Amino acid sequence: MIHWLVCPADACPGLEDGAAPPGFLSTPERETYAGLAYPKRRREWLLGRWTAKRLLRLSLARYGELSLRAITVGNDPDGAPFLSVDREGRLPVSLSISHRQDRAFCALSPSPAPPIGADIERVEPRDPVFVHDFFTTGEAQLVQHCPPAARDTLVTVMWSAKESVLKTLRLGLRADTRRVEIQDVGGIEPASPESDGEGGWRQVQVQSTLPGATHLCAWWRRDGTYVLTLAAGSSQR
Ligand SMILES: CC(C)(COP(=O)(O)OP(=O)(O)OC[C@H]1O[C@@H](n2cnc3c(N)ncnc32)[C@H](O)[C@@H]1OP(=O)(O)O)[C@@H](O)C(=O)NCCC(=O)NCCS
Repeated sequence: MIHWLVCPADACPGLEDGAAPPGFLSTPERETYAGLAYPKRRREWLLGRWTAKRLLRLSLARYGELSLRAITVGNDPDGAPFLSVDREGRLPVSLSISHRQDRAFCALSPSPAPPIGADIERVEPRDPVFVHDFFTTGEAQLVQHCPPAARDTLVTVMWSAKESVLKTLRLGLRADTRRVEIQDVGGIEPASPESDGEGGWRQVQVQSTLPGATHLCAWWRRDGTYVLTLAAGSSQR
């Protein structure tokens, strides 16, 4: 089971100034926050943590009453996020964070394995060079055969699903994005009960030649003008 939550920036008080809401940051987080030089990065970092902490409290009942400052959202040296709580330490869960403009998307699985990845992207036109550079030949063909009106959505879903898979593998964009191939996104027509699974999630068929990339599963759904994707090492959503 993967829990997930999207938070818009106006859900996090004080965020427009890049200021941390009172009583929100843990001691280690305050140190990290002090080192963030740019307002945009401060805002997205704060909103990601706001969303991840709320998700933890909503999805795991034993943390439902925990104060936000007792929860730390940290990053391992490779950048992947983790959760720890005061007096307990690092939690045996898998967390993934994504931020885009005015919103954050977090996913949480109540066990560390298989790891999960989450990504949010705004649907917008991308230059054909983008597809040429970052997509496989097979993916470029899928884009080419897609009706023009649906192309931006398809490219966004495919790109986002690649990012989710690369987060699952803890590689991010250190890896060649063409080593993750999106083979099918289950159609890009508007959401309907017939085409979508539980919660509007559609299955993505994905293959990868990257180390550790066996039994990959991925899903996508719309969220207004955004696309959300999730990935996991095996079928567990
Ligand atoms: C993972 C990555 C593709 C995400 O970039 P993005 O699409 O611009 O940003 P998103 O908002 O979707 O995701 C950012 C979040 O991804 C997570 N992340 C970063 N690196 C990650 C990794 N190796 N594996 C899994 N998740 C990772 C972090 O939680 C980060 O948010 P936070 O820093 O506020 O905690 C990109 O950060 C990357 O390629 N990182 C690895 C290479 C790198 O430059 N690392 C430097 C940090 S050590």
